[in-house]
Amino acid sequence: MIIRAVVRGVGHYLPERVVPNAWFEDRVDTTDEWIRTRTGIERRHFAADGETTSDLGAKAAEAALIDAGLTAADIDALVVATSTPDLTFPSAATMVQAKIGMKQGFAFDVQAVCAGFVYALSNANALILSGQAKRVLVIGAETFSRILDFDDRGTCVLFGDGAGAVVLEATTGSGATGDRGILATDLNSDGSYKDLLYVDGGVSTTGTAGHLRMQGNQVFRHAVEKLAETAHAALDKAGLSGADVDWIVPHQANLRIITATAQRMQVPMDRVVVTVQDHGNTSAASIPLALSVGKERGQIKVGDLIVTEAIGGGLSWGSVVLRW
Ligand code: ACO
Repeated sequence: MIIRAVVRGVGHYLPERVVPNAWFEDRVDTTDEWIRTRTGIERRHFAADGETTSDLGAKAAEAALIDAGLTAADIDALVVATSTPDLTFPSAATMVQAKIGMKQGFAFDVQAVCAGFVYALSNANALILSGQAKRVLVIGAETFSRILDFDDRGTCVLFGDGAGAVVLEATTGSGATGDRGILATDLNSDGSYKDLLYVDGGVSTTGTAGHLRMQGNQVFRHAVEKLAETAHAALDKAGLSGADVDWIVPHQANLRIITATAQRMQVPMDRVVVTVQDHGNTSAASIPLALSVGKERGQIKVGDLIVTEAIGGGLSWGSVVLRW
C-alpha cells in the first residue's frame, strides 16, 4: 500500500464583471473577429476595483471546501499559485488563510506564471507523499488585468481574472495505475527564455508592478512543442499513454495551442476540457477553473484519467497525471 494525493473537492470563483471582445475595439486596433479566430477567446472576467487576488482565491477555496464536505479546520497546508499577489509580502496564501478562517497549518505562494498551478499541485503532492501534510488546499488565483498594458493589442486582449481550487487528501492506494489521485508529475523550466514573456517591473528593479510583455508567436512555438513533450513525459512516468486519457485539462491560453497539443497527443478534441472562450488566459487559475467547470458540466467523473499541462513565463512548463 502507498499514499496517494486524491482530489476530494474542487471549486472556482469568477469576478462579476464580464468583458466581451468588443470592449477592446474602442481601445486598440483590434476586432472581435481577430480575437476569436486567433485565440478562441470570446469574453473574460475582470476583478472589480478593490477586489484582490486573495479575495478571488478565498472564494474559490471556500467553494472547494464545500464540495469536499470539509471546513478550514480540516486543512493543514494551503498553497496559492499566483504571479499577481495582493502585496509584495506577505504571501497571497497567508491572506487567503486568514480570509477562510484557517488558524492551523502553514501557507505559502508558488510563482511559475501560467505553469503555477501544475507546480503547486506537484509540490502539494510531495508534501502529502512525504507525510508533511494530510489535506492541502491548492489554489490558482490571478488578477492579470492589473498588469496589462491596455495600449498593447498583442497582449491586453488575451488575459482575464479568476480563481480555482482543489482539496488534496492523503489516501491509501495500491500503487497501480487504477488508483485515484496523482499518479505522476513532470516539471521543467529554462530561464534563458526570460525575454519571451515577462513583466517589465518589480520590487528590486523599478519598484513598480510593471506590465506584461510577450513575444506571442515565439511563446506559441515553444508551447506547442513543450506541452505535448511534458504531457508524454508525465504519462510515461505513470506507465500510461495518450490512449488511456479520459480528459486533457490544459492551460487555457489559446484554442490553437490547445488543439495542436491534443493532436500531438493523439487525443480527440471531445476529450479536452475547453473554457478559454469564457475566461481568456487566467494564468495559474486556468487549470483549476477548467477542472471545476469540467466537473460542473458533467464532463469529469470519478475514476477518469486526467492530464493537465501548462506553460508560462520563465519559461516554465509541466504536467500532472491524476485519476479523479
Ligand atoms: N488584434 C489585431 N491584430 C493583432 C492583435 C490584435 N489583438 N494582436 C496582434 N495583432 C497583429 C500583430 O501586430 C501582427 O501584425 P503584423 O503582421 O502587421 O505585424 C499580426 O497580428 C500577427 O501577429 P502574431 O503575434 O504573429 O500573431 P499570432 O497568430 O501568433 O497570434 C497570439 C498572437 C494570439 C498572441 C499567439 O501568438 C499566442 O497565443 N501566443 C501564445 C501566448 C501564450 O500561450 N501565452 C501563454 C503563457 S502566458 C503567461 O505565462 C503569462
